[in-house]
Amino acid sequence: MEVIRPSSGAAHAAPLLRLAGIQKRFPGVHALDGVDLDLHPGEVHVLLGENGAGKSTLLRIIGGVLPRDAGAIYLDGQPIEIRSVHHARRLGIGMVHQELSLVPSLTVAENIALGMWPTLRWYLVDWLAIERQARWVLDNLGVKINPRLRINQLAVAEQQLVEIARVLSLRVRILLLDEPTSALPEQEREHLFAVLHAMRDRGVSIIYTSHRLGEIHRVGDRVTVLRDGRKMGTWLVAETDEDVLVRMMVGRELRELFPKLKVAIGPPLLEVSDLGGGALSDVSFTLCAGEILGVFGLRGAGRTTLARALFGLQPYERGTVKIGGRPVHIRRPQDAIRLGLGYLTEDRRQGLVPHLQVPPNMTLASLRHFVRYGLLDHQGERRTALHYVQELDIQPPILSRRLLFFSGGNQQKVALAKWLCSRTKVLILDEPTRGIDVAAKSEVFRLVGELARSGAGILLLSSELPEILAVSDRILVLRQGKVTGIFSRGEATQEALLKAATELSEGVT
Ligand SMILES: Nc1ncnc2c1ncn2[C@@H]1O[C@H](COP(=O)(O)OP(=O)(O)OP(=O)(O)O)[C@@H](O)[C@H]1O
Ligand SMILES: [Mg+2]
Repeated sequence: MEVIRPSSGAAHAAPLLRLAGIQKRFPGVHALDGVDLDLHPGEVHVLLGENGAGKSTLLRIIGGVLPRDAGAIYLDGQPIEIRSVHHARRLGIGMVHQELSLVPSLTVAENIALGMWPTLRWYLVDWLAIERQARWVLDNLGVKINPRLRINQLAVAEQQLVEIARVLSLRVRILLLDEPTSALPEQEREHLFAVLHAMRDRGVSIIYTSHRLGEIHRVGDRVTVLRDGRKMGTWLVAETDEDVLVRMMVGRELRELFPKLKVAIGPPLLEVSDLGGGALSDVSFTLCAGEILGVFGLRGAGRTTLARALFGLQPYERGTVKIGGRPVHIRRPQDAIRLGLGYLTEDRRQGLVPHLQVPPNMTLASLRHFVRYGLLDHQGERRTALHYVQELDIQPPILSRRLLFFSGGNQQKVALAKWLCSRTKVLILDEPTRGIDVAAKSEVFRLVGELARSGAGILLLSSELPEILAVSDRILVLRQGKVTGIFSRGEATQEALLKAATELSEGVT
């Protein structure tokens, strides 16, 4: 096991890790083209780039997950081959992956200890020690999650915290974090940054990728931008600003990040009254045709529970739901889809088939539109897929490529296209821009706006205040399963929403 060495004067120290001329090709894609990178002891180095720029590929090479095609890696000035994940770990390199890699059927504690379960005599696993260690790591991260719960009982944000906790529990000198905050709400992000800074001050070097541009100044010391597999440059975070970085990433100026189309609001589409049971109590609201209704709340406020209840994934005990003025009973997702509901889940893996190509993944929820005389209309399916590949700028634009070979953000775009092309009347979007780069975000909201203009109603669940404020017509705030406010576009401000989301949350049981 490597020892963590304290360091001082990080900026002037020799690089701990140096990458020189790294090359990586995949069939049809030059993912990394001669990338150089220096990582100093005790720095947080942010890696920025659009979806598919090569960030994850670079981290995977350092983490021993992928071999490189050419180029050199030096650790402590010595050339080195990082042969496997296991080898990387022995060198003191740990990685938090973009796609969660936990074992769903094991508990939180078992996942944190995975691969190094402490044993008692006769190889008996020391379950108490496992639980103690998990509690210690989670406490350190400032996270309240019961280590005895199974991963599949946790929300995506909680899973992400466990994933981070697992790697923090290893003693590493180099920590690679691939979009660790994509599912995390504000409070938890703050905790994570505090933990990362404490590690940095102990001399740990961190490489960090993110699509939340706002975090860079809070978390990073230096930043490197990749575009199409090439390095555009490295800057001190304190000496650069968002506009410069965006221009470097995207290669052009972005006009408007979150466009808002003017749409006439129509009759009620979805009417929910006194919905209750489970984590919800007496939730009532109306969603009209053409409307984008934002739903805001902190982690655990009941947003995803509400979405699941409406989509028939989780039964509700009380209350009524009307669609188009008619009372309906939604017991299963099939009922929901038949009634014209769509649901983009917060976990994109829930709605996609990784081994299939792009077109079938996009048309999964609308196959019946592509059946003619009982046969699947492959031509039509491909035409539709191509349309969305172009609209959302899915890279690389190769329909025959299996989904699992796309970068994380591009997979998210496919998940979104699946619902955009399904012509649903009521679309529930749970964190739709998770992991999506800045340019794609504005495309996503432009398409969502057009969907609303065509008469659909959109329920937008988001923890991104700037986004939700920019695109919603009204915003509903949930706290502990209750509606604590519904704000019109004019009334809604960051302060008002946060206040409604947090007030009284202490002391109330
Ligand atoms: N295993 C693979 N097989 C084939 N192509 C791949 C594979 N992994 C990555 N690629 C391709 O390499 C390119 C870089 O992907 P990478 O995942 O590194 O991007 P990224 O910068 O992490 O993007 P994102 O922000 O979307 O996560 C993409 O074009 C991607 O499709
Ligand atoms: Mg990635």
